Amino acid sequence: MTPRPPDISEATAADLSPIAELLSIAFADEYAPLFTRGDDARRRCLEAIMTHGFLEWRDSTVVCRADGKLVGVAILRWTPRQPRRRVLPCLQALAAVIGWPRALLAMGSLLLTPEQRPPRGACELLVLAVHPEHRQRGIARRLVAACEDAACARGRSRITVAVDVRNAPAIALYQSCGFRHVESRLILADLLAFRASRYHRMQKRVDLSKWQNASS
Ligand SMILES: CC(C)(COP(=O)(O)OP(=O)(O)OC[C@H]1O[C@@H](n2cnc3c(N)ncnc32)[C@H](O)[C@@H]1OP(=O)(O)O)[C@@H](O)C(=O)NCCC(=O)NCCS
Repeated sequence: MTPRPPDISEATAADLSPIAELLSIAFADEYAPLFTRGDDARRRCLEAIMTHGFLEWRDSTVVCRADGKLVGVAILRWTPRQPRRRVLPCLQALAAVIGWPRALLAMGSLLLTPEQRPPRGACELLVLAVHPEHRQRGIARRLVAACEDAACARGRSRITVAVDVRNAPAIALYQSCGFRHVESRLILADLLAFRASRYHRMQKRVDLSKWQNASS
């Protein structure tokens, strides 16, 4: 039997744990400095971070499934407002997994990390990840296209993304999807990695007329 092509759809509440698992695998190198206790600890910490509002994912997440398994995810951010975060319950949940010293370090890092705030009229591609066993099959490209559709549907004319200058596959992907370099900056790196990194900000203009024509 021919395998079904991967399917792209909006995430549901049931996807929280699989998304956390995928992120723990896809960003293992970035999260390793704090979560040295293995994949499962990373997954549980990421689940706590998502549950308690440090990574907004509801209403803005596109996922890719292959044979029923979640293999890709993209999370958009629509608003420049701070997400509603619950610091204490998140800290307690992290401490239950990695102990208080590491949980306090992780929380400090979460609170210090500059949020990616989309400029007016734009939305921010906050997270994009594909499972290592499913890479280079066009899944990320399809997720980016689904994000463009979602941006169009909300009348956003631009998508922006911050990408580590050392992340050659991601930079090649964004360039091939039509993103252009806007600026480079030194910022405290993603989520839990305690290091400053140079990031490129890239941007794509979305053709809103395409969506308006399709929906009229
Ligand atoms: C970056 C990432 C999302 C790409 O996912 P993917 O599904 O493998 O990407 P695609 O197969 O859709 O590739 C689309 C294009 O991206 C570029 N690309 C993807 N992987 C590449 C690689 N390893 N080297 C060079 N170019 C690459 C190519 O231009 C490719 O087009 P082509 O296949 O016609 O040559 C994936 O490698 C990943 O999850 N990395 C870890 C998490 C991460 O870094 N996320 C981005 C944070 S900003």
